[in-house]
Amino acid sequence: MADIPVGILGLGAMVPERRLTNQDLEQMVDTSDEWIVTRTGIRERRIAAPDEATSDLALVAARLAMERAEVRPQDIDLIIVATVLPDMLFPSTACLVQERLGAVRAAAFDLEAACSGFIYALSVGSQFIATGMYRHVLVIGAEVLSRIVNWQDRNTCVLLGDGAGAAVLGPSRGERTLLSTYLGADGAGADLLKQPAGGSRLPATVQTLADGMHYVHMNGNQIFRFAVRTMGAATFAGLKKAGLTMDDLDFLVPHQANLRIIEAAAERFGLGMEKVMINIDRYGNMSAASIPVALEEAESTGRLQKGDHVVMVAFGGGLTWGSAVVRW
Ligand code: UT7
Repeated sequence: MADIPVGILGLGAMVPERRLTNQDLEQMVDTSDEWIVTRTGIRERRIAAPDEATSDLALVAARLAMERAEVRPQDIDLIIVATVLPDMLFPSTACLVQERLGAVRAAAFDLEAACSGFIYALSVGSQFIATGMYRHVLVIGAEVLSRIVNWQDRNTCVLLGDGAGAAVLGPSRGERTLLSTYLGADGAGADLLKQPAGGSRLPATVQTLADGMHYVHMNGNQIFRFAVRTMGAATFAGLKKAGLTMDDLDFLVPHQANLRIIEAAAERFGLGMEKVMINIDRYGNMSAASIPVALEEAESTGRLQKGDHVVMVAFGGGLTWGSAVVRW
């Protein structure tokens, strides 16, 4: 079987225009800018317009990534959309994106691994290229979490935001080469972060609506502990798979869930914060969109040099986790 080196050929990102600041939230729930900033590092987040759905955000990010990769819609063989909130339960958001892009040759499916979704999609998509089955795979992380946030629950509503990021994968052109991906899961923690109603276990009814079971439910403390542990373990595992050590790590693009989680990881790695991508202050936690938006920003603001070893690392509901190592 072929073992073709896979590269990220182009990146794209988009966030909705509307900003929701901590000061706005102070008017909505019993919270304060001071609490949110010190506990999470978040100052504002973006909220999709009423007529904007996950596929709308995904489409903008995808077009930008394809333009930068110089890949046309008809050159795309597969589209994977990582999301926890597709436009509809079915058909997949990937199919909606495929049609609007005019990517007529592409197969398309959604993938759900919560906040680790982009890393999962990157790993899955890259296999098709490595084996020679496909040449160009479009991988997207897109979320409109604001639609399932309970705006009266201060434990969750201050954390989340909307956005989308995309990457075109293809045979490496000698830069941004994927060196390894590493994935993990532990369903024993499934209850810690979930949207209880709307699926086959608890279909949406008047009662589930009245009980708020269609909202995001989260045990923040337990996720926090899991996250600190996992960020370290997944980063080490990804580097090891790539034949590298912590000393080789040049730049970290972590899932943006909480600044304290990221700082704890950086400290453990002995990594200065100038080598860590942070945009949680402006966007909050965008789940599967968090890493591709952060990676795109790291590149477009010139923070990544050719040859840098860049590690993306994520954790999230499921529980799931994963990392990807790229030589820029
Ligand atoms: O992408 C993966 C998904 N999620 C995460 O990664 C989240 C991980 N967890 C976290 O980021 C943190 O646990 C939180 C930010 C969610 C919470 O921070 P914490 O330092 O763990 O606070 P806590 O849950 O222990 O709550 C401390 C206090 C509580 O009050 P009492 O019970 O001590 O009186 C909360 O009710 O802070 C209260 N609180 C708030 N106060 C003001 C919780 N949310 C808020 C709020 N504003 N928004």
